[in-house]
Amino acid sequence: MSRGDGEAIGPDSVGVRRGQALSWPGVQHVLVTGGAGFIGSNFVRHLLAARADVRVITYDLLTYAGSRENLRDLPAPGRHLFVQGDVCDRAAVDRVLAEHAIDTIVHLAAESHVDRSIVAPDAFIRTNVTGTFTLLEAARAAWRGPAGLRPDVRFHHVSTDEVYGALAPDDPPVAEGAAYAPRSPYAASKAASDHLVRAYATTYGLPVTVSSCSNNYGPYQFPEKLVPLVIVSGALGKPLPVYGDGRQIRDWLHVEDHCAAILAILERGRVGETYHVGGGNQPTNLEVVEALCALLDARYPAAAHAPHRSLITFVADRPGHDRRYDLDCTRIQAELGWRPRHGLADGLAATVAWYASSGAWLAAIRDSDDYRRWIALNYDGRDDGRGDGRPREAP
Ligand code: NAD
Ligand code: TYD
Repeated sequence: MSRGDGEAIGPDSVGVRRGQALSWPGVQHVLVTGGAGFIGSNFVRHLLAARADVRVITYDLLTYAGSRENLRDLPAPGRHLFVQGDVCDRAAVDRVLAEHAIDTIVHLAAESHVDRSIVAPDAFIRTNVTGTFTLLEAARAAWRGPAGLRPDVRFHHVSTDEVYGALAPDDPPVAEGAAYAPRSPYAASKAASDHLVRAYATTYGLPVTVSSCSNNYGPYQFPEKLVPLVIVSGALGKPLPVYGDGRQIRDWLHVEDHCAAILAILERGRVGETYHVGGGNQPTNLEVVEALCALLDARYPAAAHAPHRSLITFVADRPGHDRRYDLDCTRIQAELGWRPRHGLADGLAATVAWYASSGAWLAAIRDSDDYRRWIALNYDGRDDGRGDGRPREAP
């Protein structure tokens, strides 16, 4: 997306220094699909704060994972609009693209939880594959100009490191262009959507960029994923479920760093290119859980269940559990100068603090029927074979 240079700082500018050159002289209309979810809501906030010359339209179905509450306290609410809708609904997508003169799509809407994809894969195929296809078709139609597709538009697709499958302990980090080897229904559905996006660039000339990111953590993450689950369960003195031996390895990235990477790619990334985005760390799951326990000890030293480490409970492993992910992020660092600003220790500490101060937001989720049903479905009876439900010491 090349917008030229300009000085388009408006009165509602937030987080932008006066006199700082912005690369987008005209007002842009950015559609963020999945903008009411974890990364989407952080990205909407980040974009509104960083750029005064954008209008942001969040398009989100509000599944269990999405909430208008995630979009509270936006830095420039006058430049944001929420539209509830399904990415699989072609007529609704056509309407939102036309009515809001969308020139940039940041596609985050997805079913995103691996464990749910194992229990019920159907929604993953529908939203992640058919939804992406629907959005691509709608964009292709909306952005058709007299001489083919408009060059001043951008379709940015947000993907995951999970499309590459599991690495062995000594495998080098995966670089862009490596073969895909997805192993869960979630990863397979994301891989399919990536292929579709690239096919639309090759076949129709759609100006696309793709980012593949590692595990995100930070504010507004739905507490079914490891980091918020451990924070919330630990604060309540509930068992902290660690799958298998807990020695699986993920690369962890604070969500704000992911948002900054997406914006850098939108502004300066090469059209048609894929960029890996990761935090450059390789802790085991057990190390992440133990780090969170130490942070909870510091915050709640007098808790009856302290030390929180005693709550760690090894439970039956996830079927097909990928052992390790690791991304080579040389390209985004060398080409765009992006680097993560949050170290893992600081990022986890800030995240624990955020959850500790977000009781009402959490309570609304924890009291929901869907959340209770999911926790029961995923964890009841999932012990380590001893069947007494008692916490375990680390192996
Ligand atoms: P999330 O589950 O928190 O949010 C997904 C959002 O999409 C929700 O607001 C939901 O309501 C919306 N949505 C779901 N189905 C929809 C549909 N049919 N139509 C419109 N909206 C729909 O997910 P997240 O963690 O914020 O992930 C966002 C994107 O980033 C996903 O594409 C995911 O694959 C990708 N990603 C996530 C991570 C991570 O660690 N969370 C890492 C890499 C990539
Ligand atoms: P998760 O947050 O679900 O992300 P992903 O599956 O996309 O990596 O899980 C992160 C890691 O933590 C993963 O290896 C599975 C593991 N995990 C547990 O050990 N216990 C849990 O209760 C959950 C939800 C995940």
